[in-house]
Amino acid sequence: MVSIAVLGVGRIGGEIAFLSSVLGLADELIVYDAATPFLRSQVSDLSHMGLEIPISTDWREVKDADICVFSAGLPRNADVKTRADLLQANLPVAIECSQAIRNFSGVLITVTNPMDANNYVLCKKNGLEPRHCIGFGGQLDSARFRLAAKARGLAGEFFVVGDHGEYQVPLFSRLDQPVGLPVREEILANLRGASMEIIQGKGGTVFGPAYHIAELIRAVIEDRRATLTCSCILDGEYGLSGCSLGVPAVIGREGISEILDWKMDDWEKSHMADAGAFVAGLCREIGV
Ligand SMILES: NC(=O)c1ccc[n+]([C@@H]2O[C@H](COP(=O)([O-])OP(=O)(O)OC[C@H]3O[C@@H](n4cnc5c(N)ncnc54)[C@H](O)[C@@H]3O)[C@@H](O)[C@H]2O)c1
Repeated sequence: MVSIAVLGVGRIGGEIAFLSSVLGLADELIVYDAATPFLRSQVSDLSHMGLEIPISTDWREVKDADICVFSAGLPRNADVKTRADLLQANLPVAIECSQAIRNFSGVLITVTNPMDANNYVLCKKNGLEPRHCIGFGGQLDSARFRLAAKARGLAGEFFVVGDHGEYQVPLFSRLDQPVGLPVREEILANLRGASMEIIQGKGGTVFGPAYHIAELIRAVIEDRRATLTCSCILDGEYGLSGCSLGVPAVIGREGISEILDWKMDDWEKSHMADAGAFVAGLCREIGV
């Protein structure tokens, strides 16, 4: 019996509730959104699939869920250039939604941007177990890296670490061939701009993130021990702490079962240090 809670059932959260139902990931759903008439419509629409999955809208039940996806809050639009620019708007949303996860012992998946800072805030403010707090974004960035690298004839393993934003770090050292600086910078620029192209064209990203979040949920409930890049609360790993940041991790039933210590080249190490400094700065600004 798997119970999945979704806080904020807009574009992404609604799709997660939908996919969790149709893919058979959830036996029951708990969904909450501040926009009550919208929430009611989402619940009706979901229930009209006729899947006989109970759907609760009582946020007090979230604490007993196996998995809680935090996807409430403002998305970017064409005028909001970076994810970090959403901090002031979405921090109050994270604080407000914290009441639902104060005694939560399941696995939290943070989606709302700036995702790394929000994952850190939700973990620290609610006294959650760090290994239970997974920030989502690295899988999506890695899939985009795969596309950009393959388009240039590059092969190998495709992982992006660092922050889910301007300070993402594609791991070129895991590719089968050396990649020079100009191509690295070109791919990095491509990755940084990937979401905004979609936001300008259709208002926001849905299919890419929703698919990978569903895969993340599957890795947890099926205890897959999958190696994924996701944002983890760091305590000295990669020389960083005081932040949540994208790193390679083994994901299973208890959330993050291990943070992997991968070798990086000098370019990657330096970009990783910049990412850590940036997100730790945001977390200090918030006061956690
Ligand atoms: N991590 C990622 O890879 C990734 C990918 C896509 C979107 N996002 C982020 O996810 C968030 C949601 O994006 P979206 O496109 O679904 O936006 P959306 O506007 O479609 O949905 C957000 C929902 O949150 C609700 N909400 C706002 N304040 C709330 C509160 N205090 N309590 C409960 N619900 C509240 C809104 O009513 C709305 O339904 C954004 O911050 C976006 O940037 C992250």
